[in-house]
Amino acid sequence: MPTSLAAVLLTPGIASIALARFTTPGCWQRNCLVQNDAGALCVQAAYNGAPTTCNDKVLSRLLDVHVHSKIGLSIAYYDERGHILAPAIWPVPAPLPFPVYVCMSGRRSDANDHYRTLCRTALHDDDVYNASAYDRVCAVERPQGFVSDGCYSVNAVPSTNPLDNPALVHAVFVLGAIVTIGTLATYFRKSLKHGWRFFVTSRYGRRFLGVTRRED
Ligand SMILES: *[C@@H]1O[C@H](CO)[C@@H](O)[C@H](O)[C@H]1NC(C)=O
Repeated sequence: MPTSLAAVLLTPGIASIALARFTTPGCWQRNCLVQNDAGALCVQAAYNGAPTTCNDKVLSRLLDVHVHSKIGLSIAYYDERGHILAPAIWPVPAPLPFPVYVCMSGRRSDANDHYRTLCRTALHDDDVYNASAYDRVCAVERPQGFVSDGCYSVNAVPSTNPLDNPALVHAVFVLGAIVTIGTLATYFRKSLKHGWRFFVTSRYGRRFLGVTRRED
């Protein structure tokens, strides 16, 4: 199945919003977003009470998708059908054209070999402190099977994923360039390395530009 790594809203007006980023460290309950040495935002979790059952169908599905993601971004945005939209650097469009969710996974700082993955509604850039963002949230005490962004590594579970880091880093870099420079047409004609390619698709009445790569 083709997996889209990222999507950029092309609709004028939305594409021209300020390029705020989801990169501000902050804490909620006992989870924190902290910057790692490479400047990426990563989740550091701690005991949050006993795990609860997830009764939200969308969020259960997203948890499953995120935990088994072959792209391996520890923080990623999704639509409600479980299509990955973008990494953490994505400027969340305002107003949101359709429901957007964010899933995050990270290591527990208070227990060895414990991890948490959570999914919730995304409201806007840096919505960590917005209480409404947690009206719908589900979490499981487990890591992703494959983590590509360097936020954490899972002990004793060797990665067998064929997706190599340089390809991912390259794709994210290209995405950043698109977002920042906005020279969409130029990039659209360029082909990407390692099997990544650009695509344009229409969904929810909007046009998306994304990069995609066919996985085996
Ligand atoms: C929280 O998010 C909602 C929905 O996007 C927004 O209307 C509200 O202003 C936000 N509140 C804060 C404190 O940012």
